[in-house]
Amino acid sequence: MSERIPIAGPSITELEIEYASDAAANGWYDRASEYPRRFESAFAEFIGVQHAVSLPSCTSGLHLALAALDIGPGDEVIVPDLTWIASAAPIQYVGAKPIFADVDERTWCLCVDSVRACITENTKAILAVDLYGGMPDYGMLSAVSDEYGLNLIEDAAEAIGSQYNGVKAGALGDVAAFSFHGSKTFSTGEGGMLVTDNDALYARVMKLRDHGRDPDDVHFLNREVAFKYKMPPVAAAIGLGQVERADELINRKREIFEWYQEEFDGVEGITLNYEPFNVINTYWMVTALVDPVHGLKKEELMAQLGGEGIDSRPMFHPLSSLPAYEEQAEAVIARQRNKVSYRLSPCGINLPSALCLDRLQVQRVAKTLCCLLGK
Ligand SMILES: Cc1ncc(COP(=O)(O)O)c(C=O)c1O
Repeated sequence: MSERIPIAGPSITELEIEYASDAAANGWYDRASEYPRRFESAFAEFIGVQHAVSLPSCTSGLHLALAALDIGPGDEVIVPDLTWIASAAPIQYVGAKPIFADVDERTWCLCVDSVRACITENTKAILAVDLYGGMPDYGMLSAVSDEYGLNLIEDAAEAIGSQYNGVKAGALGDVAAFSFHGSKTFSTGEGGMLVTDNDALYARVMKLRDHGRDPDDVHFLNREVAFKYKMPPVAAAIGLGQVERADELINRKREIFEWYQEEFDGVEGITLNYEPFNVINTYWMVTALVDPVHGLKKEELMAQLGGEGIDSRPMFHPLSSLPAYEEQAEAVIARQRNKVSYRLSPCGINLPSALCLDRLQVQRVAKTLCCLLGK
């Protein structure tokens, strides 16, 4: 049998190995913060923002963003129903309530009309997610945020290098967080980055991420009880190599998507990720919606692809459908309201999108999927 085709994975070259070795050998004493600082400044420049803070994960970045915006008990934050739980869990870490809004049929990201319908006097923020590298309508979301005086937080975990009207993902709201998990477009194994243009918010984040110490504090004087969220130097060194190779990594993601597009050209019943005219999608995960006429749910497709040596993942389940939210009144309402999320999710499957894939592997995936669908 031919080798297994992985769902996701990074591209690591001599550059990252060289930086990581240097960090392991020399990233101590007076050079202890050198790689985190270099990674942060290279990343901030790449996104086009003033501040970047390297972190252990994107989840910690969203937690810090919410805490720094002073969101807490009694507050509501609107988040898409169709996303990974890490987008919503931090809302509860700060004691606020996630309100699950529906997504748009084509972008698979927040639907602005649904957001409007979810706004109450307790709403404090909209937490938009750039799903699989795609983008919601940020023009409209910003307008709604301004109209109601809400904060706009961007979960850009999956959208490194994506653009909306020429602005990079991460620069579209008040604050954003990225993930460098091993499956992501830039990887540090585990890791994340918070970015913002807001000086006051940045100052607050810097204090909250270090147990409530002022950044220049040498007396270990904790001013409040807070968190400890930092990226280790060896991980930051790998991240620096990744951001220096940004164009190569992003072009590769787009190339993998184009290969799939060519393979599925003219095949009816398969819809891939959408890229509107004003968006550049970096396709973290190539995702296929399989027309329900085929009568195959995502779990069956995954099992059958798996049997052919091809790894895949289910499109995210609506958060409101998860056991984790079973008891929550908001989830009960969302289950009725979010028709699009509930229609898309059962027939969506993430196809292998690892940076190491070659054209022949993509051909094998596409042919196998077509075969399963009787094409
Ligand atoms: C949309 C989304 N948000 C947040 C996260 C959390 O990232 P991390 O695992 O770095 O905390 C992920 C990671 O998979 C994600 O896909």
